[in-house]
Amino acid sequence: MQNKSLLLNVLLAVVIVVLVYQLSTADERSAPLETPEVATNIVETEKVKTVMRSVGAKGHIYPKPALVIGSYSAQGDPNIMTAAWAGIVNSHPMSIGVSIRPSRKSYENIMATKAFTVNVPSAQFVAHMDYAGNISGYDEDKFAKLGLTAVKGDFVNAPYVGEFPVAIECEVTDVIDLGSHMQFIGKVLDTKVDEQYLSADNKVDVMRMNPVIFADDYYYGFGQRIGQPWDIGKLFKAGEQAKYNPLVYNNPTLASIHNRKSVRHYTNQKVSAEVLTTLVKAGMAAPTAADKRPWAFVVIEERNVLDSLSTLSPYTKMLEQATAAIVVCGDMDKALDGVARDYWIQDCSAATQNILLAAESMGLGAVWTGVYPIEKRVVEVRNVIEAPESIIPLNVIVLGYPTGEDKPKNKWDESKLHWEKW
Ligand SMILES: Cc1cc2nc3c(=O)[nH]c(=O)nc-3n(C[C@H](O)[C@H](O)[C@H](O)COP(=O)(O)O)c2cc1C
Repeated sequence: MQNKSLLLNVLLAVVIVVLVYQLSTADERSAPLETPEVATNIVETEKVKTVMRSVGAKGHIYPKPALVIGSYSAQGDPNIMTAAWAGIVNSHPMSIGVSIRPSRKSYENIMATKAFTVNVPSAQFVAHMDYAGNISGYDEDKFAKLGLTAVKGDFVNAPYVGEFPVAIECEVTDVIDLGSHMQFIGKVLDTKVDEQYLSADNKVDVMRMNPVIFADDYYYGFGQRIGQPWDIGKLFKAGEQAKYNPLVYNNPTLASIHNRKSVRHYTNQKVSAEVLTTLVKAGMAAPTAADKRPWAFVVIEERNVLDSLSTLSPYTKMLEQATAAIVVCGDMDKALDGVARDYWIQDCSAATQNILLAAESMGLGAVWTGVYPIEKRVVEVRNVIEAPESIIPLNVIVLGYPTGEDKPKNKWDESKLHWEKW
């Protein structure tokens, strides 16, 4: 009898422990579907049909941020944890709200210091960010384990992650008990951004920074640009909403095509050899007549060579600012014979356009500067790159990271489109 009641007590204790554990981990992971009261609502218009199914009281907001919160313990030990339940909550003063369960080490720290940092991880730190969200600072020194640097904030008593591209220092102004989580409202005292992602006027190149996005079962990298804020919506004002073509804006290839522009203003950031090779690979993916591939690419990184190319024509001045260039050349030993010889121009042009689009898609700025058929320029560029006579430079693609001054043009002109006949 005594054994039976002991067994029952043990069973009860196990059930309670399991229930408590499930409750405490339920919301940051996806909880099982609850039976909704309203099953489906169908909205059908000429353009769209939605069948809206209730899935219960869920926080299906997409995308969710994946932020890393830095804090010191009362003893000064640095800690980080990942938080998705976070966002901007006010403009003046700029404030960020972060919801943290009281069971976290970070909660204890922030309650003690009334300060935290918000760190934005770029895609290269996705594993670090995930780890910081799975292990507690009660059990491990996560900075040490992840090989990250805890830098003491300049304005608050909290560490930021030295390797991440954005660090925001916050002073706690409010703590709100929301139920499972306590929300810390942090007044932003300073924001630091890795210079390599900043333009001269402190605009952030988010595309290149590539912050991690969290959405349920996966982390994602940054997507393509689909419109300009406080601008794209004006189409409705002008009654021109039909111009917004979702086929274009939801397709990364089309987005690169339409966002491509001739970029003539660059920051002083270098383009890495890896990126330059990636661009040439994109060039060599172009189609060529009879698959002859009559091309050669000369990548230029050296300052003195870029400078000597810049003096060759008034149209190549931007090379003074650029950090790299690719000379796209036709190789006459590989070109077709006779009347088909000039196909090399089309082949190398297709490769050039591939490079320009690849550059746009990678957040680089590029401009096509013509060489062939102006004989004088052909000879001069050939001399600079020290190529033999059989090599004809078609153009110089000037490259660098854009300052953001150059904008794409809308060149669509319906009068130039003919269907079936002229
Ligand atoms: C993607 C992701 C998002 C998370 N979001 C939150 C959150 O918003 N609030 C929270 O309390 N815990 C969140 N967590 C869980 C904590 O980061 C995790 O429990 C961490 O180990 C706590 O560390 P600490 O005890 O050192 O503070 C998240 C975890 C991941 C992986």
